[in-house]
Amino acid sequence: MSPRTEIISRLQLQAKVEELGRQLTQEFQGRQLVLLGVLNGAFIFAADLCRAIDLDLEIDFIRVTSYGESTQSSGSIRLLKEPSIDLTGKDVLLVEDIVDTGITMAWLQEHFRQSPAKSVKICSLIDKKERRTVPVDVDYIGFSLDKGFLVGYGLDCAEKYRNLPAIYALD
Ligand code: IMP
Ligand code: MG
Repeated sequence: MSPRTEIISRLQLQAKVEELGRQLTQEFQGRQLVLLGVLNGAFIFAADLCRAIDLDLEIDFIRVTSYGESTQSSGSIRLLKEPSIDLTGKDVLLVEDIVDTGITMAWLQEHFRQSPAKSVKICSLIDKKERRTVPVDVDYIGFSLDKGFLVGYGLDCAEKYRNLPAIYALD
């Protein structure tokens, strides 16, 4: 295992997910909320977040091309898995693990704005601004961090460490 430093503890993650859940429960009251988790990184966050939202929501997952084995973004995005549920007239919340360069989220936001969804918003567990190259408005943010390559709680490095219960920086 690579050397690593704990950045966000299990308890901090739990508290933040509860807080976001309360906020989203209020803001999406009376609307047709669809959570769209971005695979693979957001699978744990989305699973926890959906249980912290006290609404009659729908949940589905999408998949985009990833960084592969590298920690650098390739810059070109493709959707490998579309949502299976009908988004017509619904309020979509894209659930992401981390926004880094912004390339993925800006692309997804534009893609779903052209869908029949009524609205498209973004919730990201982590907003990391150091490498932002494409501007993107993240509507709901768990934690804002300056830098570091993070793993755990769904975040990976070459598919490893996703199962760690807290978030660590690889040294
Ligand atoms: P972006 O397109 O550069 O904003 O990258 C978004 C995607 O890159 C995220 O969904 C993650 O899967 C991956 N990513 C970016 N930074 C990290 C990190 O620090 N750890 C693990 N994955 C990351
Ligand atoms: Mg991701």
